[in-house]
Amino acid sequence: MSELNRDGFGSRFGVLVAVAGSAVGLGNLWRFPYMVGNNGGAAFIIIYLLFVILLCLPIMFSEFIIGRRTQANAFGAIKKLAPKSPFLTIGVISVVASICIMSFYSVVGGWTLEYIFKSFSSDFLSASGSNLESQFKEASSSTIVPIASHLAFLGLSALIVVAGIKNGIEKYSKILMPALFFLVMLLAVRSITLDGSAAGVKFLFYPDFSKITGATLIAALGQAFFSLSLGMGCIITYGSYVKKSENLFKISLMTVAADTGFAILAGLAVMPAVFAFGISPGQGPSLVFITLPQIFAQLPLGNVISIAFFFILFIAAITSSISLLEVIVAYFTEELKLTRKTSVLIAFAIIGVFGTLSSLSNGVLADVKVFGKTFFDLFDYTSSNVLLPVGGLLVVLFVGWRMKKADVLDELTNGGTISVRGVILKWILFTIRFLSPVAIAFVLLSSIGLIKMF
Ligand code: PFF
Repeated sequence: MSELNRDGFGSRFGVLVAVAGSAVGLGNLWRFPYMVGNNGGAAFIIIYLLFVILLCLPIMFSEFIIGRRTQANAFGAIKKLAPKSPFLTIGVISVVASICIMSFYSVVGGWTLEYIFKSFSSDFLSASGSNLESQFKEASSSTIVPIASHLAFLGLSALIVVAGIKNGIEKYSKILMPALFFLVMLLAVRSITLDGSAAGVKFLFYPDFSKITGATLIAALGQAFFSLSLGMGCIITYGSYVKKSENLFKISLMTVAADTGFAILAGLAVMPAVFAFGISPGQGPSLVFITLPQIFAQLPLGNVISIAFFFILFIAAITSSISLLEVIVAYFTEELKLTRKTSVLIAFAIIGVFGTLSSLSNGVLADVKVFGKTFFDLFDYTSSNVLLPVGGLLVVLFVGWRMKKADVLDELTNGGTISVRGVILKWILFTIRFLSPVAIAFVLLSSIGLIKMF
């Protein structure tokens, strides 16, 4: 496809909802609340916010610069700017990480579908707490239903992606994202107004810094990358569909603000209710699927709230999974010259198989371990804790040290047509060149035990 008739986002609102749609997902509504719960509450949130502002904003910005400059998929982008350089690793990471993330993301997406249907039955919420736990175990560990749900979720994502950027991704994000915001707000208000919710609010906002350890830092960094869709070429790919007239700094700022706002809102929707009903916040990944129905059961109109909540999770998940799929599809169409349809089909087949393995690893394949981890955990761990931070590090090194400074400035200022203040410019360049790489390298080294801080 020539660059002239390459598909792209049609409007500024379209760009914003699509990028925010990618960022806001299971990472905010499913992963963030239990990470906060497992890592001591407010102290984790403060570290997370610092990482987001100091490290992730410059990376998001850098990915946009690479994408829009080259108008190509992540691999093709680096190939254009630095052919045959080791930075092509960024392109390889983008495809591998997309497949890894989709292979567990689509399984959790499938659970959200299952839970929407479950919420319609009156038996579901009349079950006792322990029963809800066994219901979740059964839903995630049986063979046929979770695999079918995973394939259904993947299939729906594929249908959107096959329709392209303007008529697929942009069109659906415009409807789904505002609906998502409205529903999470509603739940947060309901949760905060419950009797006994104050302890949950305190848990979210009063930090206990003695809770911070080396593990907290790594968990917070991995969460920030995952939540903002960084370090794997997703923003490079979406950036390549952004018009030359858009202000990349503004889009980055708004995306980061929206994603962080959604994470905090999700915390407010979950934690006050968890405390109000005397449930432990450190439940891990099952927090949303076991604990929340327990809470819904004790609320008026519990079924309706339950349907709304799992529908929210589903919407959030699908607007992110389409961005993950697009990374692979853009690579297939532009580098391997396949049609969009064939590319989507191949991606569907690969993720269909790996996702099935990861679904089965919660059941019959629970004892099959690779590097000591089940398939599900392996895909999650490798992507968030290894591939995304390494990819993010390479991206800032690339933009900071390898790309021509004139090109970077040209993208930053839209060819000199928007003025960015000198101090801000200096700060951006300083963070991209020094602060981000050093800090990410530091966290990575401490995660493999080469540096010990705590
Ligand atoms: N940011 C998404 C979430 O928070 O659920 C997950 C994700 C999407 C990660 C796209 C990476 C990515 F490229």
